[in-house]
Amino acid sequence: MSGNNTEAFCSEVEQLLASLPRDGGLISQAAARQMLAEKLLRKQRNLQMPIGVWTVLALLTAGLVARAAYRSSSPTCLLSGTWLQEIARQPSNCSSMCAGLTSVPVETDISPERFLQLYAYTGRPLLVRNGTRGWRAHQYFSYEFIRDLHDRHPSAYGHGPNIKVIDPFNVELATLHDALHMSEERRRRPFYFGWKNLNRGVCLELMNYHERPYYLGPEIEHPAADWFYIGSASRAALLHIDFFYRPSWQAQIAGRKRWILQPPVECESVCSPLQVDIEPGDILNVDPNQWYHATYVLNETFSITLGSEFM
Ligand SMILES: *[C@@H]1O[C@H](CO)[C@@H](O)[C@H](O)[C@H]1NC(C)=O
Ligand SMILES: *[C@@H]1O[C@H](CO)[C@@H](O)[C@H](O)[C@H]1NC(C)=O
Ligand SMILES: *[C@@H]1O[C@H](CO)[C@@H](O)[C@H](O)[C@H]1NC(C)=O
Repeated sequence: MSGNNTEAFCSEVEQLLASLPRDGGLISQAAARQMLAEKLLRKQRNLQMPIGVWTVLALLTAGLVARAAYRSSSPTCLLSGTWLQEIARQPSNCSSMCAGLTSVPVETDISPERFLQLYAYTGRPLLVRNGTRGWRAHQYFSYEFIRDLHDRHPSAYGHGPNIKVIDPFNVELATLHDALHMSEERRRRPFYFGWKNLNRGVCLELMNYHERPYYLGPEIEHPAADWFYIGSASRAALLHIDFFYRPSWQAQIAGRKRWILQPPVECESVCSPLQVDIEPGDILNVDPNQWYHATYVLNETFSITLGSEFM
């Protein structure tokens, strides 16, 4: 990107940023900055890139551009985060993913065939009410339960910085061990974090408390690893998009949580942003690699979400 283009691009980002609320919004300025930079970059280049050679070439070029931009002392409007991945992302199929949707579809008793046909790989989000029917997790899960479960398998803490501290203000929660051993006093202040469990012992114990969602048929492959997200009221995961390449289910075990889903830039002209509140027993199926998403724990509830991916 030439100097002029970079300037024009940065000034477009700055203008958009100026129009956002200064504070108190769900989306922090930093997250919004990154999101807009990603989106604008993509829009500006109008990429419809096939994966493969073009992606590799684009990544290399973008890497060189980023390095050049970094070395020149221009304002660092482009330099944070995942925009390289964003431009390499395969464009979504807007008609299957979200065209015509004004709210997240809700089903209460969905068959595996219907799920496979309409939702599993289309990118279309789905809320399954009472999707966790029969799971013992609802009776047992709490902060203490999850802590004790991990304490019984100390190697679960052993993957280095395996915690994904989603709340950027929780800088002191550097490891999963720290996060599951907060003092009473610390726990009275807001926190929100998530991690992926890769420990076999924890996995095996967890099988006593939840099942694979009943509507995932046998043709759907499902890893044993689970994601946990726990947090207290008014804490949030800021708007972002993931690069795990697989759709996910997110089961609300305790507490209430608001999800905000925003379509990727190539779908903005035909799709609307969506918002949905989920309650204990609900499972939200969403492809976090296609939808920008933010979550927000509602009122004074303590939220526990268990999730996984499938393919
Ligand atoms: C997008 O999805 C629709 C169905 O929703 C399908 O008919 C169409 O072929 C898909 N387009 C591509 C490019 O895969
Ligand atoms: C959830 O499903 C179970 C089992 O089918 C049923 O007994 C229960 O009444 C349902 N709960 C709600 C709130 O629909
Ligand atoms: C939580 O918030 C919802 C809607 O914002 C409200 O209807 C409900 O009464 C609140 N619950 C509590 C316990 O405050």
